Amino acid sequence: MQFAIVGYGKCGRDYGSLIQALRGASVSCVIDADPSRAEAGARTLGAAQWSANATVALRRASADAVVIATSHASHAQLARDALDLGLPILLEAPLALRLPDAQRVVAYARAAGTVVAVNFWARALPALRRIRRRIPRPTFVRVEFVVDPLSESWTGSAEHGGVMGLLGSHALDLASFLIRSRPRYLQAMGGRHTRRADLADTVSVSLRFDNGGLARVVVGEYGRSRLGASWHVLATDGTITETAHGDLPGEGSRSTGLTGTDAGCSRPACQAQFESLRAFAEAVAGQGKPLAGIDDGLRAVQLADAAYEALGSRRRIPIAATPLPVGAGPVYADDPAPYRRNHGFRA
Ligand SMILES: NC(=O)c1ccc[n+]([C@@H]2O[C@H](COP(=O)([O-])OP(=O)(O)OC[C@H]3O[C@@H](n4cnc5c(N)ncnc54)[C@H](O)[C@@H]3O)[C@@H](O)[C@H]2O)c1
Repeated sequence: MQFAIVGYGKCGRDYGSLIQALRGASVSCVIDADPSRAEAGARTLGAAQWSANATVALRRASADAVVIATSHASHAQLARDALDLGLPILLEAPLALRLPDAQRVVAYARAAGTVVAVNFWARALPALRRIRRRIPRPTFVRVEFVVDPLSESWTGSAEHGGVMGLLGSHALDLASFLIRSRPRYLQAMGGRHTRRADLADTVSVSLRFDNGGLARVVVGEYGRSRLGASWHVLATDGTITETAHGDLPGEGSRSTGLTGTDAGCSRPACQAQFESLRAFAEAVAGQGKPLAGIDDGLRAVQLADAAYEALGSRRRIPIAATPLPVGAGPVYADDPAPYRRNHGFRA
């Protein structure tokens, strides 16, 4: 299976190694808005093609599948470009920044009828699989994702969805995945402590699900202690309580010699990434399902959007049953720039 990688930054480079470690897979094309990165990536991975323009390059690429690992504001448009060509996609979260854009990508995916996976790698963590096995019907789940302040990075900026774009999608997906029910209501409070911009850097979300389950999701840029971990999960059904914690994929030491049938990296987050890639490749080959599909990506965007709405309005937000895709149209058509600057947040 030949892959095109779009976005050859930190995450794209990791994908390059993971794809090379996947039996029967190789990288045929590297695309990055920075041409020197694209060219260096192609050289490193032995890819015949490289380009700075995804729209043009995907049309010419001899690729069976596309991995999208770019900054968040470009995800929806790049997904659309790949879907226009009927190419299966493994997309880094978030699927889109706002719900209407996520709905449009879903409409394109339905029309293309191809596999679209969202890389919710945390679902493959052994500790979380154990929790799901031991507590199939949790009454309460707590998920916390913490990073160092993002004020110097594009990931923290409002135009890329801020802390909810980066961590919110993953944490909200994990809560829904563990509770195994449809979210019905959401409340949220936020604070601005580590940054000067308008956007919240710490968000606490409460969710109620159809089956009565409750979840508390906290995402924040307050950093972790030297002994701490970046993600923490607690789940309970009133009888059994389980906890787990760990690092995020890009953190900690990482093996560079990726060979053989696994990722060649012993860290759970790295192994989980590899599981996610393998499940996607198998789904493209017609065997099984990806770790998380496009509807999971849509729900995470819906919840992250609702969290920002709750911060702005200070109201409880009802979560509509997974909304039907809106008609096809350009992404960001109804997403005014002033709104995106702070997502309606008021401290
Ligand atoms: N799963 C993981 O292990 C993991 C870890 C870190 C980041 N991420 C995710 O990966 C994605 C990229 O993050 P990163 O840390 O690698 O960022 P990065 O800034 O290191 O790299 C992003 C790259 O995308 C390129 N790019 C941006 N827009 C583009 C476009 N329209 N077309 C082509 N290239 C474009 C940039 O030039 C840059 O090289 C984000 O979605 C992030 O949340 C995932």
